[in-house]
Amino acid sequence: MSRTADVVGGRVRVPGDKSISHRALMFAAFATGTSHVRGILQSDDVKSTAAVLRALGWSIPNVRETMRIEGAGFTSRLGAPVSRLECGNSGTTTRLMAGVAAAQPFSSTFVGDASLSRRPMRRVAAPLEAMGARVEFLEAHDGLPMTVHGGPLHTIAWELPVASAQLKSAVLLAGLCAGVPVRVKEPAPTRDHTERMLSSLGVNVAVVDGWVTLQPAERLAPLDLDVPGDPSSAAFFVARALLAGAGSLRVENVLRSPYRDGFLRAVRRMGGTVEERRDGERDADAQGDLVAHGGATLRGISVGRDEVTAMIDEIPMLAVLAARADGTTEVRGAEELRVKESDRIAAVVQNLRAVGVEAHELPDGLVVQGTRAPLAGRVHTHGDHRIAMAFAVLGATPDCSITVDDPDCVSVSYPGFWQDLAHVAR
Ligand code: S3P
Repeated sequence: MSRTADVVGGRVRVPGDKSISHRALMFAAFATGTSHVRGILQSDDVKSTAAVLRALGWSIPNVRETMRIEGAGFTSRLGAPVSRLECGNSGTTTRLMAGVAAAQPFSSTFVGDASLSRRPMRRVAAPLEAMGARVEFLEAHDGLPMTVHGGPLHTIAWELPVASAQLKSAVLLAGLCAGVPVRVKEPAPTRDHTERMLSSLGVNVAVVDGWVTLQPAERLAPLDLDVPGDPSSAAFFVARALLAGAGSLRVENVLRSPYRDGFLRAVRRMGGTVEERRDGERDADAQGDLVAHGGATLRGISVGRDEVTAMIDEIPMLAVLAARADGTTEVRGAEELRVKESDRIAAVVQNLRAVGVEAHELPDGLVVQGTRAPLAGRVHTHGDHRIAMAFAVLGATPDCSITVDDPDCVSVSYPGFWQDLAHVAR
């Protein structure tokens, strides 16, 4: 096998961070005054959040990269939502907005696509019910459709059963919208965008001994925010460069957060070279460019539970990268991957095998045996954007011939992915 023909070069600017884009729309809606947000991710998931806010009575313009949003405070002006709340494929929309809906004086029914409807929602219903809302599952499982009967809520101190920023945020938003203090403890720290953004808008949010505490706020200041690039989208281009025989790729303006950088730490342990060019702290988080270099020989690593939350969305890419590392890669403590947009443990292993890589599932992770053999086959994405993009990166290298069954599923997080991927080869 020769990798010398595969050279990457140039720059790529990945779209705005998905987690921050969802929250920017929500907080701009709840603010008092006019918000200005630049760099918003224009993807299907973010459009789902905009649609749900609108259906609940907030006035949100069409999702554009630059938006001006007139806030209307924490309480919907509607008597009830105008329709069912269509969340599409977006778990973040569903879980965060369930927290908001729990504090409204009416009932809201959340619906989604087949993938989202299968995802567990009892975990978000439990703290909201403990605060005084009632949550009804309309089918014989704990997924969507789900009706949240909102009303006055009371304070809560809640220990989350799983490390999840979505669940933590749902409790914080329920407290914020209901005007009651809340405390929530996570088993391991997760992305803190809700806390940091609310704090920058004047809300008293503190973390003591793993407990995140939010005090009610009279009002939310409007946002003036530049959304940095999404590190989860950047990971695909870092991996693309690391798999190349030569060259380097600069990924511009990427969010840098200790809760999101597990992938970078892991690929460096594999022997990959990724430089960081920080340009300081602005807005909600730090950001900077990443420069990833081709030509390295990667080696297999072990990833344990304590590393998983900081790379939860990047594990499919890491596992696919491991197919081209010397030796074995093992990921443990990642059972949450089974309840993402697909069962990502099963989907990654099934597809690695389909293209000729030795891999097997563990209950809480997977094992991948690296190979230098040419790889070929058809990938079944199960409609999961990150499965599609991870295998597309492998397929972009010259010694692979890989097709993806549903290329359009990338639209939930990265609509321009295929064009950007095509532009980095030299
Ligand atoms: C997200 C939290 C994570 C992540 C998801 C976005 C968020 O989900 O996987 O893509 O914006 O809060 P969990 O909270 O389920 O881990």
